[in-house]
Amino acid sequence: MSITDRQLVFNVEGREYVDLDLYRSRGGYEALEKVLAWDPRQAVHMLKEAGLKGRGGASFPTGLKIEMVRNNREKERYIIINADEGEPGTFKDRYIMTHLPFQLLEGVTIAAYLAGISQGILYVRHEYDEPRSVMRDSIAQAQAAGLLGDDILGSGFNLHIELFSGAGSYLCGEETALLSSIEGRKGRPQVKPPYPTQQGLWGKPTLINNVETLSNIPKIIEKGALWYRNLGTNDSPGTKLISLSGDIQFRGLVEVPFGTSFRDIVYKYGGGPKPGRKVKAVNIGGASGVLVPEEMLDVPLEYGACSRAGITIGSGAVFVLDDTRSILDNVSNRINFFLHESCGKCTPCREGLRQAQIIMEKLLEGRAVMKDVENLERYTRVMQNASFCGLGQAAGNSVISSLHYYDQEYRGQCVDGDCLYGEESA
Ligand SMILES: Cc1cc2nc3c(=O)[nH]c(=O)nc-3n(C[C@H](O)[C@H](O)[C@H](O)COP(=O)(O)O)c2cc1C
Ligand code: SF4
Repeated sequence: MSITDRQLVFNVEGREYVDLDLYRSRGGYEALEKVLAWDPRQAVHMLKEAGLKGRGGASFPTGLKIEMVRNNREKERYIIINADEGEPGTFKDRYIMTHLPFQLLEGVTIAAYLAGISQGILYVRHEYDEPRSVMRDSIAQAQAAGLLGDDILGSGFNLHIELFSGAGSYLCGEETALLSSIEGRKGRPQVKPPYPTQQGLWGKPTLINNVETLSNIPKIIEKGALWYRNLGTNDSPGTKLISLSGDIQFRGLVEVPFGTSFRDIVYKYGGGPKPGRKVKAVNIGGASGVLVPEEMLDVPLEYGACSRAGITIGSGAVFVLDDTRSILDNVSNRINFFLHESCGKCTPCREGLRQAQIIMEKLLEGRAVMKDVENLERYTRVMQNASFCGLGQAAGNSVISSLHYYDQEYRGQCVDGDCLYGEESA
């Protein structure tokens, strides 16, 4: 059996578009039929047993989130499908929407039923024209087939889903900024609590989940919690979609069981670096993720192990840099990206990124001194600890990890860089 032969949750190898007939011929919508006949609490319990965690970055337990909305006394509630997918190097949600739209819609319908929700919004990244169009058609087809809209499958349960085009900003993927943008306000993050499950869209309880998270649900209901748990590890059940790119032989989307090592992801799934080249660094988790050296690749893709190793799985982007790449160039690109996307609401992020950009420019031009590198680390740590939202808190992950693993590259760019990093502090 090859590494990709096992029956998983998405089975993406064929890159096949699964239309409604094909989806139903493979058992699609049987999970929804099943759930509509159950007590919703039974299915929520199953999701909790399966250990499904959010795939949008924060890895919050999905069953628990559904239960929180369900238990709210307010009856007007919403479900929002977060398809903003702004993390650079991430293309898994785009794939699901363009190839497996009914798996997503079935997952959304089950989650809405379990949480007692009858109105939903699919928040699609502004630039995603094709996914938006496929989802528009798919919603219409599901409605025509009695799988969405009023009285779904004759159960009396209603769910109406509207499409909303994202605001073209990375920050609008953050759930409270996303809510503000739907409500017609500036897409800026809000104070939590209250969490969206308590007071979300228009102040009503709102279930916000990522596209990949929701698309896991039908398979869990169909095959059971134990099947799902057995795909991954005790710490991290199930599988993860990995957007694999950079200096490797096979780029694209792969689905890997949790517990797979990053070495297997890069070398077995990605085919390793191009002939004659070596892996210099791997960026895990997108622009907000970390840079780790080849020696770290034996760490398994697992929330606990990654957290202990200082790795953020984030959206599941894995970007490989070979030995022709400059680490400083890569870090500088990310700082520029975050400076562009920062909303400027809080000082640590707004000013920290600006100062980091100035220092990175000095480093790239060979004008920096070691004191600048020291300041870079100091500003970045303040930004991580004192920023208002996840953007500023994570924007410096590449700086800190590269200072840790590639300090010689920083030293090499400083005019007084012979001394060891950190020894010159005044
Ligand atoms: C700056 C920032 C950007 C984010 N962008 C996205 C995004 O594009 N898609 C997404 O699903 N979650 C994104 N999130 C996470 C969401 O705030 C939220 O946690 C997620 O949609 C919840 O879904 P889940 O529980 O299924 O992961 C972002 C968070 C931050 C801080
Ligand atoms: S951390 Fe950055 S993006 Fe977030 S609120 Fe502050 S300035 Fe805005």
